[in-house]
Amino acid sequence: SEVVPFRGGVQAGIVTPAQDRMHFAAFDVTTESRDELVALLKKWTQMAERMTAGLETTEGGAVDGAEYRPPDDTGEALDLDACQLTLTIGFGPSLFVGADGADRFGIADKRPAQLADLPKFTGDALDPARSGGDICIQACANDPQVAVHAIRNLARVGFGTVALKWSQLGFGRTSSTSTSQTTPRNLFGFKDGTRNVKAEEPAALAEHVWAAPLDGQLWMAGGSYLVARRIRMLIEPWDRTTLHEQERVIGRSKGSGAPLGERDEFDPLEFEAKGAGGKPVIDEDAHVRLASAEALGGIQILRRGYNFTDGSDGFGHLDAGLFFIAYCRDPQAQFVPMQQNLARNDALNEYIKHVGSAVFAVPPGVGDDGYWGSTLF
Ligand code: HEM
Repeated sequence: SEVVPFRGGVQAGIVTPAQDRMHFAAFDVTTESRDELVALLKKWTQMAERMTAGLETTEGGAVDGAEYRPPDDTGEALDLDACQLTLTIGFGPSLFVGADGADRFGIADKRPAQLADLPKFTGDALDPARSGGDICIQACANDPQVAVHAIRNLARVGFGTVALKWSQLGFGRTSSTSTSQTTPRNLFGFKDGTRNVKAEEPAALAEHVWAAPLDGQLWMAGGSYLVARRIRMLIEPWDRTTLHEQERVIGRSKGSGAPLGERDEFDPLEFEAKGAGGKPVIDEDAHVRLASAEALGGIQILRRGYNFTDGSDGFGHLDAGLFFIAYCRDPQAQFVPMQQNLARNDALNEYIKHVGSAVFAVPPGVGDDGYWGSTLF
């Protein structure tokens, strides 16, 4: 029950019921050699398959190897089981075409049109040191040490081929991705993930999440696109805000998660409903209204983010927030218009700041003889 299968038609870690913990890493490729890159992807695949099964990176790698060599496995997960570890890989725009326009690894013509750098959004305060990357690996598990062990060992063997650019730890999943899960809460105290695309909705997944053969790049069929945003939550101003204002900003009740004006969490959102003085019950600039499919011509995404608290910022504030992760079939047609609508109008903007951003093409699942990226190279 603790092992999530590594191989399959789609990668694990997307519709897998969201685990509790995350370690997300973005790498730059430092080699110019396609062969070295492919060799690393093959090696990573072997290690990832073993680690997701709860095994060491190699048989006996932690303590049974030669005494005068560094161990093949760093060992901190030795007594832990798989804890539903999933490892999900993605390729950034810069892997295909370098900043100078160079075809770095002979794959420039395989760059999907959907994999373009995101535009600048109103209010963005992006830190380049927490943005972008040639390759990402999302590690999710129910034990943080298992997730960290996986990223650490993949980064370790990547030395000389890739370099860690940035990474993020997350706790307390902020979305449910399956109807089997209860809805967790984000650091603003609200249930998050109530109205999300869920694993049990194959038609919605086909329409909004999985890349199809006709989308332009055959190697991506069964894959998806990952958008990551490190969103700082301005906890202190929020905590001085009244409950009424907090609920107005989101558009839902804090306790039950029900839409304003309704009783139960999963009651439909009545965007047309008017209250006292003819004012809309769900405010015009409430987060759930502006992010809804109803406001965006039917657009939906699958959210799979995590809370983070990275200590404090030196000015007496927690460096806390939401590490937002979304999967969608076309970031340009889905995430971009959604975020543009939110960036311009969302009442939530007073309490949040986007400080990191990245987008990756997440290839389809690894088949019996495949490796991470084998449909691309
Ligand atoms: C819904 C919080 C950022 C997209 C919600 C809900 C909450 C919430 C509490 C209601 C529960 C639910 O239906 O899941 C937040 C917080 C954010 C944030 C605290 C930032 C720190 C974003 C961003 C996007 C987004 C950046 C996308 C660009 C959505 C969508 C929904 C939603 C699509 C469902 C709307 C619906 O159809 O009802 N969010 N969110 N959120 N959020 Fe966010």
